[in-house]
Amino acid sequence: MQALPAPEPNPATRPHLTAIASGKGGVGKTWFSVTLAQALAAQHHRVLLFDGDLGLANVDIQLGFTPKHDLGAVLAGRVTLAEAAVPIGGAGFSVLPGRSGSGALASLPGDALATVLGGLATLPYDHVLLDLGAGLDTANRRMAAGADTLLVLVTDEPTSLTDAYAVIKLNEADAPRADVRIVVNLATGATSGQRTYTSLARACSRFLGRTPKLAGIIRRDPHVTDAIRHQTPLLTRHPNSPAAVDVTHIAAALGGER
Ligand SMILES: Nc1ncnc2c1ncn2[C@@H]1O[C@H](COP(=O)(O)OP(=O)(O)OP(=O)(O)O)[C@@H](O)[C@H]1O
Ligand SMILES: [Mg+2]
Repeated sequence: MQALPAPEPNPATRPHLTAIASGKGGVGKTWFSVTLAQALAAQHHRVLLFDGDLGLANVDIQLGFTPKHDLGAVLAGRVTLAEAAVPIGGAGFSVLPGRSGSGALASLPGDALATVLGGLATLPYDHVLLDLGAGLDTANRRMAAGADTLLVLVTDEPTSLTDAYAVIKLNEADAPRADVRIVVNLATGATSGQRTYTSLARACSRFLGRTPKLAGIIRRDPHVTDAIRHQTPLLTRHPNSPAAVDVTHIAAALGGER
């Protein structure tokens, strides 16, 4: 693979990099990333969503488009990062597809990944969101540790909680004192969501000596499934649904980071 040119990012103008991770799979990272991207764009931010689940196609399927180029084409030097980004009509943000047909990107060497992250930081966006695959394999760990903010999605299932704790612990080793925040998804209500957050936060403060902040609680909402089934972003299809309102609040807090 050919090395990418890596211009120096300007710290004053470079985008805020937010990685979206979870321990357990299937807790809503990809859906949340798409919706957060759309909510930030609706709040007048320039947003790029990078599909960082490098082995599988995710974002393009939820949005119903077929990418012309992916990260593999960028790394092979056929297109630039900017050329590979696909503007999502009507949703106000762009997507950088991460997969390669061969799945070879899942084992991308660390320096290539660092170059990609460095390249993303030079693009003209206010926010770059990284939708990671479940768990923290080496590629995920690097991307999580390279982010300005790490959002860890958790649900009230015990396996989701223990796996989220493991992710936070690993990230603490890779990037001590990083800005890590918790998003509780699939909550039955505010009280149970708060309970889920409190049990994870308590474990973190007891065993890691620090307490991640709560980024927000997202309610379980059948509109989410409906929007995904129709391959349409939630804020387009159901802008006033409970989950849309919850993600809009999270976007408002995150948007203030830049
Ligand atoms: N707030 C919600 N309300 C209702 N359903 C939800 C909500 N969030 C996620 N889901 C459901 O969870 C499913 C899984 O979501 P998604 O594919 O985004 O998870 P993921 O964490 O990215 O999975 P993976 O670990 O495989 O990448 C969705 O198809 C959707 O039906
Ligand atoms: Mg996913």
